[in-house]
Amino acid sequence: MQLTIEKAAVLKEVPMEVKSFGKIFTDYMFVMDYTEGEGWHDAKITPYSAVPFDPAACVLHYGQGIFEGLKAYKNSDGTIRLFRPRANFERLNRSAKRVCMPEVDVDFVMKALIELIKLEARWVPSAPDTSLYIRPFMVASEAYLGVRAAQQYKFFIILSPSGPYYAKGLEPVDIIVEDYYVRAVRGGLGEAKTLANYAASLQAGEEAKLKGYSQVLWLDGVEKKYIEEVGTMNIMFKIDGKVITPPLTGTILPGITRDSVIQMLKHMNIPVEEYRLSIDEVVKSYEAGKLEEIFGTGTAAVISPVGKLVYQDKEMTIDHYAEDSVSMRLYKELTGIQTGKIADPFGWVTIVE
Ligand code: COI
Repeated sequence: MQLTIEKAAVLKEVPMEVKSFGKIFTDYMFVMDYTEGEGWHDAKITPYSAVPFDPAACVLHYGQGIFEGLKAYKNSDGTIRLFRPRANFERLNRSAKRVCMPEVDVDFVMKALIELIKLEARWVPSAPDTSLYIRPFMVASEAYLGVRAAQQYKFFIILSPSGPYYAKGLEPVDIIVEDYYVRAVRGGLGEAKTLANYAASLQAGEEAKLKGYSQVLWLDGVEKKYIEEVGTMNIMFKIDGKVITPPLTGTILPGITRDSVIQMLKHMNIPVEEYRLSIDEVVKSYEAGKLEEIFGTGTAAVISPVGKLVYQDKEMTIDHYAEDSVSMRLYKELTGIQTGKIADPFGWVTIVE
């Protein structure tokens, strides 16, 4: 398939510094269309603009849509790096299957992304804790009100120079364990990056915010007993020297940062285990003085230490995120690899050239 580039008549001014997440958008975006029987077509990089949708477009009624999130980093010599971009497109294809959408050609969208980033190089920030957040997404565009998989889709990549995801920057976040609402159940959509999962999380998130928490920690949807994830990040607990994270049993997102962190911990000779950790076990380890660290992992969240975890009337406070804590070591190592400050022994980085 041909990739065409339509140049913008006027370019925007790049802000001197970025502190927000996902609020500023660059000059261009990538877009392509899918029609059943024809496949993907009309791939182009085009000036960033509002997109006309038929009011009957399936995504607007039945939520058939998926997305991804990855980042580009610029170091002091101007080199731009992408972190595990293929893994994102591969996961997009797994999400696509789960909601009956067409897969994309990973080699082609990689090529399109690299062309887009080259064109937008001036938008990739280089200040510490900033990056160009990349949002690929696919939606059902067919105008049809019957409930079935659509026959037309649009795939986009948009770019947003961003700072840290949480308003408090890299300070530890406070999280409340959600024991009423559920995010996903086995056999549901939990492991796919679908729009519906995020819509399902909003009410609990808003109620948590009113109580002063950044996010909720989800428990399993059946027994409300086992730890799942936070919704914007996977979660890890350091208990008695060992890092524990829930296994991928179909209800949580298979995070690329989660997978990277597990590999990094093994490389650092820090014990790491994936098992169904119950909230009771977390509370018991806290009471026994063995809950050493809690941290989230995610593209947007990077490594986010949790300062306070609240479950019903139990408040667990963790205040030792010193330089030598596992969270801080992981943060430095991961961002070091992503920005090129330290060598990448895993082969995760793609240099844009
Ligand atoms: C990401 O980390 O890229 C995510 O998808 C979380 C996002 C919903 C902010």
